[in-house]
Amino acid sequence: MDDWLTVEDLRKSARQRVPGFLFDYIESGSWAETTLAANRSAFTDWRLRQRVAVDVETRDLSTFVLGQKRPLPFGLSPVGMLGLFHADGEIAAARAAAAFDIPFVLSTMSICSIEDVARIAAEPFWFQLYVMRDRNFTHGLMDRAAACGCDTLVLTLDLQIMGQRHRDRRNRLGASPMTPRQLFQVATHPRWALGMSRTPRRSFGNIVGHVAGLDARASLAEWTARQFDPSLDWDDVRRLRDRWKGKLVLKGILDVDDAERAVACGAEALVVSNHGGRQLDGAPSSLEALQAIVASVKDRLEVFFDGGVRSGQDAVKALCLGARAVFLGRPMAYGVGAGGQSGVERMIEILRTELDLSMALMGQTSVAGLDRSALLGPAAAPVRQYTVG
Ligand code: GLV
Repeated sequence: MDDWLTVEDLRKSARQRVPGFLFDYIESGSWAETTLAANRSAFTDWRLRQRVAVDVETRDLSTFVLGQKRPLPFGLSPVGMLGLFHADGEIAAARAAAAFDIPFVLSTMSICSIEDVARIAAEPFWFQLYVMRDRNFTHGLMDRAAACGCDTLVLTLDLQIMGQRHRDRRNRLGASPMTPRQLFQVATHPRWALGMSRTPRRSFGNIVGHVAGLDARASLAEWTARQFDPSLDWDDVRRLRDRWKGKLVLKGILDVDDAERAVACGAEALVVSNHGGRQLDGAPSSLEALQAIVASVKDRLEVFFDGGVRSGQDAVKALCLGARAVFLGRPMAYGVGAGGQSGVERMIEILRTELDLSMALMGQTSVAGLDRSALLGPAAAPVRQYTVG
């Protein structure tokens, strides 16, 4: 049995269990991966204030997310292809989220379909939408999500065009038939392969079978590249807002001007995110962007956060800087790869304990009471010594 004490332990297990070309998809950032790295290093600029002799016997980690009281300030970010990191990965993650009563966001590019997750996981979840050129298909996805009981739509705005991830190119991710190297990696991960052989869900469940003439993997990759709509603009967002009767969350906001537009078009929440450093390389870290956005929108909508969180200590920093809830993408994918539902449950447990104990050591007793005054920083940049000559 794996001894998972940290998110890093789950990452290591996932790296062992999942074929390399799929694990690389989780790990990749775009181009030189500077934003991917910045998402992590931004947390080290901030210090937690240690306050002592405070009664911390009773602590409250609950928060309100879109008007609903949740026991933890966490959610699971939409991640494509989760069901290839472990058989039925989306169902596993949805069940883990339900066990902790936190939101799970199903990606458009999931392996298990909206209907499968609704039927088998049997708990309400949120649906993430990519806008396709084929608006009938886009609207059809929204209708299917609504029919499955999804009351919250997470509209992703930072992936109209895909940033290049070199590792995926080098691994020929999506090649059909699989390359000899991919086949070798599959053959050397028998536990993963056995799990996958036992599920019928191995291709993009929301798409295959719902688009006429599309069933082969190669044509799907081609179709996806052609179908994501680069012309998406704020007028489209407003139209989608009008069409969607539930709550709307706009994901991929990194700029104050865009945050203001999100408010103006009537979204209930936004997610400060740079897509895990997978899109615009050179963009600011999510943590850098968070403060300015919170200061600008104040209470006019809820601000969620994703990007670089690997511990409860990271999460508490984002919460202090104004995030209503912290969404977990790679940590969830590591959990799925490491052990399906139990891996994701362990991930949430690890973060919950780290958050709870760190808050106690900070002399903080409630998530609702956290603010910037609980932090010190950002730490001064190290002074570089230059030698002349
Ligand atoms: C899709 O969301 C990706 O980042 O690959």
